[in-house]
Amino acid sequence: MVELSPLRQDFVWGTATSAYQIEGAIDADGRLPSIWDTFCRVPGAIDNGDTGDVACDSYNRWPEDLELIKQLGVDAYRFSIAWPRIFPTGSGEVNEAGLAYYERVVDDLLANGIKPFVTLYHWDLPQALQDLGGWENRETAYRFAEYAAVVGARLGDRVTDWVTLNEPLCSAWIGHWEGRMAPGIKDHEIAVRVSYNLMLAHGLGVAALRESAPKPPQVGLVVNLSGIEPASTAAADIRAAQVADGHVNRWWLDPLFGRGFPADMVEVYGVELPEQPGDAEIIAAPTDFVGLNYYFRQIVKADESVPVLGFSQVPGPNVTHTMLDWEVHPAGLEELILRLAKEYGAEKIYITENGSAWVDQPDADFNVDDTDRTAYLDSHLAACVRAVEQGAPLAGYFAWSLMDNFEWAYGYAPRFGLAYVDYPTGKRVMKTSGKTYTDLIKTHRNLR
Ligand code: NOJ
Repeated sequence: MVELSPLRQDFVWGTATSAYQIEGAIDADGRLPSIWDTFCRVPGAIDNGDTGDVACDSYNRWPEDLELIKQLGVDAYRFSIAWPRIFPTGSGEVNEAGLAYYERVVDDLLANGIKPFVTLYHWDLPQALQDLGGWENRETAYRFAEYAAVVGARLGDRVTDWVTLNEPLCSAWIGHWEGRMAPGIKDHEIAVRVSYNLMLAHGLGVAALRESAPKPPQVGLVVNLSGIEPASTAAADIRAAQVADGHVNRWWLDPLFGRGFPADMVEVYGVELPEQPGDAEIIAAPTDFVGLNYYFRQIVKADESVPVLGFSQVPGPNVTHTMLDWEVHPAGLEELILRLAKEYGAEKIYITENGSAWVDQPDADFNVDDTDRTAYLDSHLAACVRAVEQGAPLAGYFAWSLMDNFEWAYGYAPRFGLAYVDYPTGKRVMKTSGKTYTDLIKTHRNLR
């Protein structure tokens, strides 16, 4: 078992979910569709024709989720608020029932001594805003700020930890360039403008939270980064790795940390940014932490057949790959934590997600002995510890995910949970990995 003593005493142990992936109840209490409800209805968009219509039914089963969270013994629960429950039509009147739902979640967590970490945007844009151009329209960033202000004013007396956006890379690149996620657009020029407006929305959201929340909020952006390595020492592959690093990592980190969008990438994209005076300062508004979601590294080679970017990924050499074919490479996590600290001067870092998907099989007694996930958890926590030993300001770790849930375009087959969800009945059962996580947390607490 990993030696946790180098972690700070107030290290935050957490677990995470997101609204569309767990809630279901898509038309309850005034909610209207998000871009994911629409995308799930596009034939062929989601594996197996799955949808988030029911998911883990968490909207109705919140008390069971709370029991799981308590059973895990975590300090904090990271969840997201569904924007279409708060502003079903994207603007105008606030939907009181939506706010009331999350107020209950927050109050229940606090009553049990668990800190809520609230993500405002985990990909479920109100469809009404998509109909007006979605993230390609600058106005959407202002709507996001209004939404952040409303939630901040209502919950900010109790919630102190906030994430503006989750993984803008996925919203922009996968949603608008590759088209594998909602809204399913495949146009790199749109994608670049979307990425810009997302970063603007982040900055406006930071300001909105600071103005509206009664208690001084701790606000951050969650980025998904990958260590990038060239497939060979050939100059073309090394150049490909620089472009890949720009696309995956620097495009988000540079503007966030006040360096502006990287000029080399603006050239690669060949798209004029929809910049207005003052935007750079808004985007670089000081934050209180950066959230890192880590899953895999990427090894890339030059590939002229790939338009605009000119690189493609090659399989990693590690023997172990998860069921999504993601290479298990814990050293990449250590490397990225250190890069955030050293290259960008990040003063507080949370691992806001880390986890792995496997084909879990419950036995006759409904036990799930997920040794692969347990080993993944252990090796990645060890990577966190190594980064801390080298001076990185790591403040906490959130395991993805509390329970199996709707894995976007992959549907329900990939299971990421510390708890197993039996979808036909909605029953939840803690897996071996969840029990191990509880033991690790206890061991660390006993060191205090
Ligand atoms: C990142 C996303 O934030 C989350 O929604 C997703 O389920 C996990 N990665 C696993 O792919």
